[in-house]
Amino acid sequence: MHRRIITLTLNPTIDKSTTVVGISPNSKLRCTEPTYDAGGGGINVSCAIKKLGGDSLGMYLAGGPTGNHLKQLLDKDGIEQSIIKIEGWTRDNLAVTDTVTNQQYRFGMPGPNVKKEEWEAVLKQLEDYLQESDYLIASGKLPPGIPDDFYVQVAAIARKKKARFILDTSGEALMKAAAHSHIYILKPNLGELAALCGVPSISALELEILAKKFLAEHDCEALVVSLGAKGALLATKYEMEYVPAPTVLQKSTIGAGDSMVAGMVMSLIWGKSFSDMVKYGVACGTAATMHEGTKLCNKDDADKLYEWIRRAQTVKK
Ligand SMILES: Nc1ncnc2c1ncn2[C@@H]1O[C@H](COP(=O)(O)OP(=O)(O)OP(=O)(O)O)[C@@H](O)[C@H]1O
Ligand SMILES: [Mg+2]
Repeated sequence: MHRRIITLTLNPTIDKSTTVVGISPNSKLRCTEPTYDAGGGGINVSCAIKKLGGDSLGMYLAGGPTGNHLKQLLDKDGIEQSIIKIEGWTRDNLAVTDTVTNQQYRFGMPGPNVKKEEWEAVLKQLEDYLQESDYLIASGKLPPGIPDDFYVQVAAIARKKKARFILDTSGEALMKAAAHSHIYILKPNLGELAALCGVPSISALELEILAKKFLAEHDCEALVVSLGAKGALLATKYEMEYVPAPTVLQKSTIGAGDSMVAGMVMSLIWGKSFSDMVKYGVACGTAATMHEGTKLCNKDDADKLYEWIRRAQTVKK
C-alpha cells in the first residue's frame, strides 16, 4: 500500500538568521547578510523528511510577499506544496547570534490574524485531499484567529478518511485535541505531558504511571514522550519502552522535536514497528542537535545514531 505523508502548518514562518559583533542597547547594530529558511512545525517536518530521503506534501497557510518567499524556499528544496492563501502576511522570525558571546537571540512573531473562511478552507482542503492510510502530521502552534479546537476538527476529518493523525503541538490546542479526538500518535515533551495530565511537573518515577493513565483515559494509540537529552518514552496499551538518546556534542537543540517526528513517520513508512519508530525518532532528534545553524537532522548522522541505539539496547538485554 502506498502511504502518503501530509504535513500541516497553520503558522509557518520565514526564519531570518544573522550575526552581529556584540549586542548592546541604543546603538545601531550592524548585522551580516541574513540567511533565510522556511520554518514552522509542519514545514520543518517536511524538510527533515526530505533530508531523510522521503517525500511529503506540505499543506500550509500563507500570505503576502513573505508567503511568496516561503513558497520559493520550499520550491528550491523540492517540497511539494498545497498552499491555502490568506490575506495576512506570513510572519518572519529573527535569530541574531552575538559573535562575541556566541549567544543566539531568537525573536518570534505571533503570525497573521487568520479569518474564519481562511481556516475553514484548510478543513475543506483536507476533506478533499486525505485518503485512507495517509499520514497526516500537524505540528506547531495556531496563529491568532484560529479556534483552540481546530485540531479537533482536523482529527475528525482524518478519522472519517481513515488517515493516521500524528500531533505535535502545545497549549490549549493540544489539550482540546487530546481530550476530544482520536489520535494515532501524540508527541508531547515532558512539559506538554504535564499540562495534559494537569500536574505542574513530572518526575522520572511518575512518568510511566502518568503515561498509562493518560492512555487509559484518552483515545490515542501511541504516546511518545520526548525527554530531551534523555531520549524518549514510548507508551501504548501493550508496551512501555525507554529509548535513550546517545550523548553527543550538542550544538543547537532547535528543531530537535520536528526532526524526531520526521524520523518517526519515515520509520513507519519503511514498515517498522512502534519500537523501531521511536528509536529512529530519537536518532533523528539527536542528529538535529549535532550541528550549529542547521536546525534539522542529516541522514548519515541519524542512521549512525540509530545503529548505536539498537546496539545499546542489545547489550542491555
Ligand atoms: N541535548 C540533547 N542531546 C541529545 N539528544 C537530544 C537533546 N535534546 C533533544 N534531543 C533529541 O531530540 C528529541 C526531541 O527533543 P525534545 O524532547 O527536547 O523535544 P521538544 O521539547 O519537543 O523540542 P522542540 O523544542 O524542538 O519542540 C529527544 O527525544 C532526543 O532524541
Ligand atoms: Mg516540541
